[in-house]
Amino acid sequence: MATKLEEARIYEAREGAAIPADDRPLFHLTPRTGWMNDPNGFCYYQGAYHLFYQYYPYDTVWGPMHWGHAMTTDLLHWDYRPCALAPDTVADAKGCFSGTAVPTPDGRLLLLYTGVQQVGDAPDQVNQLQCLAVGDGTDFEKDAANPVIGADLLPEGGSAVDFRDPKIWYEDGRYLCVVSTRDAQDQGRILLYESPDARRWTYRTTLDACRGEYGKMWECPDFFALDGQQVLLVSPQEMEASPDGEFHPGFGTVALLGQYDKGEARFTREAVQPVDYGTDFYAPQTVLTPDGRRVMVAWMENWATVNEAPRRHQWFGRMTMPRELFVQNGRLCQRPVRELETLWQNTLHYRDTLNGDAVYDGVAGRRLDLTVTLDAAASPDCRRFTLCLAEDARHRTKVEWSPLYNELLFDRSGCGTRRDIPHLRRLQAAPRDGKLTLRLVLDGDCLELFLNDGERVLSALLDTPAAADGISLHSEGPAVLDLVHHTLA
Ligand code: FRU
Repeated sequence: MATKLEEARIYEAREGAAIPADDRPLFHLTPRTGWMNDPNGFCYYQGAYHLFYQYYPYDTVWGPMHWGHAMTTDLLHWDYRPCALAPDTVADAKGCFSGTAVPTPDGRLLLLYTGVQQVGDAPDQVNQLQCLAVGDGTDFEKDAANPVIGADLLPEGGSAVDFRDPKIWYEDGRYLCVVSTRDAQDQGRILLYESPDARRWTYRTTLDACRGEYGKMWECPDFFALDGQQVLLVSPQEMEASPDGEFHPGFGTVALLGQYDKGEARFTREAVQPVDYGTDFYAPQTVLTPDGRRVMVAWMENWATVNEAPRRHQWFGRMTMPRELFVQNGRLCQRPVRELETLWQNTLHYRDTLNGDAVYDGVAGRRLDLTVTLDAAASPDCRRFTLCLAEDARHRTKVEWSPLYNELLFDRSGCGTRRDIPHLRRLQAAPRDGKLTLRLVLDGDCLELFLNDGERVLSALLDTPAAADGISLHSEGPAVLDLVHHTLA
């Protein structure tokens, strides 16, 4: 009889082969077949990037979690690899939840993930504990001693019911990891652990916690140094909107920026910001590239709306495109990975003073990288500027800038959806040095919008038929603009 892992590998190879390439986005990773959520184990190992993902191969809904696996050398073209983990031991029988990967000094690849384990008779009596698997990049052997971080290593108040998503790294001859938990006061906490061998762990400290703000349970932490700052990424559940509208309610991802004293293992939080202002972004993970870039991918969905989302394919769920992170003026900023430029074709450049409506020759499509720079300083009488995309007589998604309020409105309510889910987002959008820059990357139904070179980013899915590929621009009052359009292929 085939084991659970063999069964999944046979199934995904057969079903995945039946999905035509043009049934998927061009460069946004989708599951080989079935369901995908969080990115897992994003790493660089033996000359390639590996990205694993939360995976249920047998249906397009969430189910007992496996780890899917894909590889790439350019962060754009992905090759599927055999399913890496299946829930097939006592320690993870109820699911192999999120985790991360790190190459070992002796050349193996180590996975640290959350094993969900039955601890009582009722189906919901489960613990979440951290498990280890080691392998060659394709096949992984689970440690016989799993879980390697058990409930006995939780600090006072920590809960094994919510204890998950370890992020592991190797530093100064030892392994470190951060793990999320929820304490008795319903506060998400980020715990730091240390180990000489990734098997024997000790609890060091709590790095940060909700403190009554920014949601409750904090999922999927990541922790790294960047441009002189320390960054802690967390994805909170049950956030409240902030009065200034910066943080939207529900599931979100926030970046906590601050300073880190390594010796004392003390993180001092200095600033907090949303990582993405869109409707579809959660649980990001980062990798350090060989050339020193910190690159992030996230699940391009939202738990609050996944059940409403149409099932049009034999796969469900996508990753964002990989994005380069940097800190500028105290903010975590993002731009598309520079590899995206290798997909540029048919570059078009327009300069115009627009007053009214315009369509520019050749500026259209559903696979494109479009940058519109508005010379706001030279357009004092522009009262409103609107860009519509994925447009035809019945469909459109709008991005609208209001100079009076320095606000950008994203509106996908006309995209073709029949679901009453969130379709609007508002974000602050002030010109920088007199200019406002909007970069839109569209890959089928995946839209990623970068404002002012990545100062703010918005990710959203558009449920729009592929034939709706128009782009139009509208200005109330003269707007001086510069437009660069690349087709992506
Ligand atoms: C986040 C998450 C993780 C968990 C995984 C389960 O999206 O809830 O906390 O490990 O998904 O699939």
